[in-house]
Amino acid sequence: MNTCSKQVVLAVTGASGACYARRFLERASALEGVSLHVVLTDTAREIWRHELGCEAPEGFDDRRFDAPFCSGSAAADVMVILPCSMGMLGRIAAGTADDAIARIADVQLKERRRLLIVPRETPLSLIHLRNMATLTEAGALIAPAAPGFYTRPQTLDALVDGFVARLLELAGLNPLEPAYRWTPGTPFQETI
Ligand SMILES: Cc1cc2nc3c(=O)[nH]c(=O)nc-3n(C[C@H](O)[C@H](O)[C@H](O)COP(=O)(O)O)c2cc1C
Repeated sequence: MNTCSKQVVLAVTGASGACYARRFLERASALEGVSLHVVLTDTAREIWRHELGCEAPEGFDDRRFDAPFCSGSAAADVMVILPCSMGMLGRIAAGTADDAIARIADVQLKERRRLLIVPRETPLSLIHLRNMATLTEAGALIAPAAPGFYTRPQTLDALVDGFVARLLELAGLNPLEPAYRWTPGTPFQETI
């Protein structure tokens, strides 16, 4: 493990939205000074195959605890759960730490490290909302998979790119590119 670079864990779970994870992986792994580690659940692999028509990348197995970041003595700098299922969100909120992702998230919270959770579900039950409130109170940043349209994306890829750019900013990995920033008073003539 290169300790000079920022240690980033991308956790992919079984919610819809594998396209976001794929784009995040592409962008984050190309950033200088970022050491990216991927962990996926079995359901995430199934949904990736279904939504993207290809196999998910290799990564740590969520059922095992052999990722270094499972211990507070080797915590990651940033963890991004993208997309995050309501099941995983609930397990983290309950502190079960019963698989690698739930445990790494638990470590991030107890060590006061950055934890960015990108849930995807609609509508939301009171249980979902309470779990999100619990995690917010514990220090996580909840950024629902809800991309903005004010940049007038013309393609699905452009929509995904804009949302992932925002997530990279929230994760503290890359400033938001001007093209994705809202500038008041500027009519949108050009499209991305
Ligand atoms: C096609 C498909 C799409 C799903 N989409 C979502 C979703 O958007 N949000 C969610 O919370 N669960 C979704 N689920 C349910 C989760 O996959 C399920 O709760 C699973 O147990 C989550 O496991 P994991 O968190 O270990 O990956 C989906 C399941 C399938 C099969």
